[in-house]
Amino acid sequence: MNSDRVLYGCMGLGGSWDRDAYGPGDIDAAEAAIGAALDSGITAFDHADIYRRGKAEAVFGEVLARTPGLRERVTIQTKCGIRPAAGDRPGLYDLRGHSITRRVEESLARLRTDVIDVLLLHRPDPLADADSVASALMSLHRQGLVRHFGVSNMGAAQIAHLQARLDVPLVANQLEMSLHSRDWVEAGVLLNTPALADNGFPFGTLEHCHDHGIRLQAWGALAQGRFTGRQQTPAESATAELLTRLAREKDTTPESVLLWWLARHPARIAPVIGSARPERIRACRDAALRDPDLTHEEWYELWVTARGVPLP
Ligand SMILES: NC(=O)c1ccc[n+]([C@@H]2O[C@H](COP(=O)([O-])OP(=O)(O)OC[C@H]3O[C@@H](n4cnc5c(N)ncnc54)[C@H](OP(=O)(O)O)[C@@H]3O)[C@@H](O)[C@H]2O)c1
Repeated sequence: MNSDRVLYGCMGLGGSWDRDAYGPGDIDAAEAAIGAALDSGITAFDHADIYRRGKAEAVFGEVLARTPGLRERVTIQTKCGIRPAAGDRPGLYDLRGHSITRRVEESLARLRTDVIDVLLLHRPDPLADADSVASALMSLHRQGLVRHFGVSNMGAAQIAHLQARLDVPLVANQLEMSLHSRDWVEAGVLLNTPALADNGFPFGTLEHCHDHGIRLQAWGALAQGRFTGRQQTPAESATAELLTRLAREKDTTPESVLLWWLARHPARIAPVIGSARPERIRACRDAALRDPDLTHEEWYELWVTARGVPLP
């Protein structure tokens, strides 16, 4: 089961999106990133079949193959269900039962492992029949190819609809959640205000996941650097200054305070960090190893500073 506080997101591994093949340098870079994650107390690794067009899983498999004992130390999560655009064909979602089975077999081969610890359905497919999705997942589970299942970018009703057809509990829901992408937390306080109309977050999803033991995982948790070096707006600059001050006071890094802001929420949110740079991965170490050190007032100060306008 995935109980890690922070996951390492492998979307940046495997070299350029454009190239078909990876080289020795890409394997070395992956090894350095994986090593930095392990040094920082992170043992859960998040993949998808589509990351770098399969090369992220493939270089991870190469590192596993050349590092005896590593497979036993890590949790491997991957996703299926997105088919990127190819030639004249637009991208689409595909959660047909036979597609799920095929994608899992391909991921297992690239990752050079016998079992996937957690398989997430990457995005909802409007054409998916929940009965045949569940049947494919249960077959993978019975064969011992996948230990646990979860979803990504799904709301409470979609999760409940699938869960009703499964014999095993869904364990994770991965959503974009950060101090920059705040719909998930804003939805709860904008009720009865006109601003709610701009908020598309499926109401009740946090509570549903919390109540059913479904771990919320936050993708984009570092906000792609918007508060830790890549500020573009006055609110982002003010938030970056506040993070720096809080980090100094708490003897940690701005990145860890940023991730603590997510982890401090009672729904038990696990950030997925996507940097491929060892030094930036190590900057997240305290988020993986220490309890969130933010007071009620500090948490609100960060939220209000990032939104740039007072709460309703
Ligand atoms: N479920 C989904 O639909 C979904 C979607 C997207 C991603 N994900 C998962 O979530 C993980 C994280 O997502 P993400 O990569 O979008 O978000 P992120 O962790 O917020 O951002 C990481 C990206 O931002 C850059 N970055 C971070 N801090 C920076 C700074 N101070 N200055 C400059 N660049 C900075 C990193 O570059 P460097 O590598 O140079 O540090 C990297 O490209 C992915 O690896 C993937 O596993 C899931």
